[in-house]
Amino acid sequence: MTATIPLGSRISGERLAVLLGEWRRRGSRHGSTDLAAAVEMYVLDGQLPIGTRLPAERELAAALGVSRTLIGAALDRLREDGIVASRQGAGSWIAGTGARRRDLEIPVTDGIFDLAKAAPSALPGLTAAADAARHDLAAYVTGNGYVTGGLPSLRSRIAERYTARGLPTTEEQVMITGGAYSAFVLCLRMLAGPGDRVLVEQPTYPNALDALRAAHALPVPVALDPGEGWDLAGVEAALRQASPRFAYLMADFQNPTGHRLDAEQRERLGGLLARTRTPVVIDESLVELDYDSDPLDGPPPLASFAGELSLTLGSASKSHWGGLRLGWIRASADLLDRLLSSRFAVDLGAPVFEQLVLAAMLEPAGYAALAQRRQDFRGRRDALAAALGHYCPDWTFTMPSGGLSLWCRLPKPMSTRLAVSAANHGVQLAPGSRFGVHGGMERWLRVPFALPSEHLSEAVRRLSLAVASVRSCAGVPAVNVPVA
Ligand SMILES: Cc1ncc(COP(=O)(O)O)c(C=O)c1O
Repeated sequence: MTATIPLGSRISGERLAVLLGEWRRRGSRHGSTDLAAAVEMYVLDGQLPIGTRLPAERELAAALGVSRTLIGAALDRLREDGIVASRQGAGSWIAGTGARRRDLEIPVTDGIFDLAKAAPSALPGLTAAADAARHDLAAYVTGNGYVTGGLPSLRSRIAERYTARGLPTTEEQVMITGGAYSAFVLCLRMLAGPGDRVLVEQPTYPNALDALRAAHALPVPVALDPGEGWDLAGVEAALRQASPRFAYLMADFQNPTGHRLDAEQRERLGGLLARTRTPVVIDESLVELDYDSDPLDGPPPLASFAGELSLTLGSASKSHWGGLRLGWIRASADLLDRLLSSRFAVDLGAPVFEQLVLAAMLEPAGYAALAQRRQDFRGRRDALAAALGHYCPDWTFTMPSGGLSLWCRLPKPMSTRLAVSAANHGVQLAPGSRFGVHGGMERWLRVPFALPSEHLSEAVRRLSLAVASVRSCAGVPAVNVPVA
């Protein structure tokens, strides 16, 4: 198959060298791997957009001061991963984001600290719950196994939790999905199409932005104040001016900032959404990770105020385990009926066994384990804050009362460059630009505290080395080198 030659602009070797900055690990004997990894980071980041035409191998080799063999090997690797395509006589260009390879990535790699994902290991008790579920499975195997809305036992446990949090909910108002992300995609398909505007917080959850882009919807960002969180007047103005098809909000431990709307703000924001009849997708993926109080004593769910056009997303990934791949949508029975009919275009339901495991974990003993997890993660949050204070004293952040990450303001705009350099010190990061609608956010970095405290401390020590490397790259502009 011949690759189609793109219409994108061309980046010169010199500019690419400036953009890549310090791409090579000190003393590394894997130059081509390092170079490919750095290019991939800038592709993911949007600074090397798909379609960008790359300089000729000879030009790039001269600009980077390396051999043509190294460039050739890096390009081979990028081609294998679907990031670069080439054609005889037409050169090479950026062809994709490498999602295909990331699908195959093994999450835990020896000696590499993964701070790109804010996701913890399984809640203790998971394997015991799986043993219990194995016995419960016997009752299901004589059926066909397709339960599109989800297992009634799991739906009713989730409904009870909403009711206990102050949002009366019945089993019919809960639909189980393959994770909160899949739930978001289902809502998006139902609510918006190409060219439709969708209000989002800025910064926001990067995968939601990817889903919006893939659906050709137009995210309308409303900036969160780094200290204060939501600017409700700004939200009101955006609702009036943009008339979005829906709003996507994270009222509880917003990812990445960790902000939480207080009860009074919820009432105002919910009232605003209800008055303007704006459907709202409320992502509560992190709501169970509350370090100040029991989640049952937190402010009532935003859906209590936002009216019948609200769809609340939940996830088992942060509270229990991402490997279960389970989430859910809580909405009115009418909205769920509509969702269910459009769901068949996407999938035919969530797996029965995993649902049985999660249902077993939502028994009282599972909540005791969750209470312990909250205490542990509070310790991890504090350990990360202490490590940053020690190794990166000029970084600032607002201490969140829940969630899984610190949203750090860096002393210089260098987030992407730091992510590239950190990878060379064995730390994977998602640069701030991933959280912005149009990239940018180079002064910001999300640092998750999902890893054990001792790992966090070592990872931050390595981060400080990466910062030093970035700073020692004299004369190299830190950000947003335009692609020409
Ligand atoms: C805010 C938010 N929404 C959705 C998700 C995806 O959750 P799930 O693993 O349930 O698909 C995440 C996971 O990182 C998240 O942080």
